[in-house]
Amino acid sequence: MFLQALLVSIFAQYGHCLVMDTATTSTDALMVMLAEEKQLRAQLATQVTDMQNRLSSVESFQNECGCDGRPTGNVAFMAALSKDLLHCTKGQPVIFDSVKLNNGKAYNDVHGVFNAPVTGTYMFTTTLSVQPGGFYRTAFVRNNATNEIGYLYAEVLSIWTDRSTTIVTHLDAGDEVWMVCLSDSRIEGDHNHGWEGANDFHSHISGFLLSAD
Ligand SMILES: *[C@@H]1O[C@H](CO)[C@@H](O)[C@H](O)[C@H]1NC(C)=O
Repeated sequence: MFLQALLVSIFAQYGHCLVMDTATTSTDALMVMLAEEKQLRAQLATQVTDMQNRLSSVESFQNECGCDGRPTGNVAFMAALSKDLLHCTKGQPVIFDSVKLNNGKAYNDVHGVFNAPVTGTYMFTTTLSVQPGGFYRTAFVRNNATNEIGYLYAEVLSIWTDRSTTIVTHLDAGDEVWMVCLSDSRIEGDHNHGWEGANDFHSHISGFLLSAD
């Protein structure tokens, strides 16, 4: 009796499997595959949408930063004056000859001229130092010695004077920017103050590309 009851119970649970024919099994397997395929397609569609969103945000960032495949490079420089400029006369370039950084090689330390490698917005800054009793009048110029795009001066004082200015300007590729003296000026270079760490950091210029057009 016990065995019979057990067999009835097993048949009740698994009986339908035993009577399934081959065709039904194949159809079921196909249905399962189709369901899986549908699920994968849905996942793929989600991934494609996600990639499209990410691509358009990259493209809009590129438009914003002006780096959509053009060789903007990494343009940044800093150069200092290694020697005192005792008499810098009107129109004379201030040549910062001690190069600290020249990424993109746009700054020429022989002539003291920055040559814009690409059209875009640039920033330049300078700090000039003069000893007590000295003074300077200088300008940033673009392409010729009278086309001023920035100005920095220090009048005669009884103390050491350090002044700075920063300019932001738009340049076309090939435009040149440098600093000139506007009247007889004195600008300090290296005073060999190794003991206080100053060395040739008394007077310097730096600049970089903010964004290409
Ligand atoms: C210097 O550049 C300015 C601006 O482009 C121009 O008006 C001026 O005529 C130029 N001067 C000389 C001497 O080339």
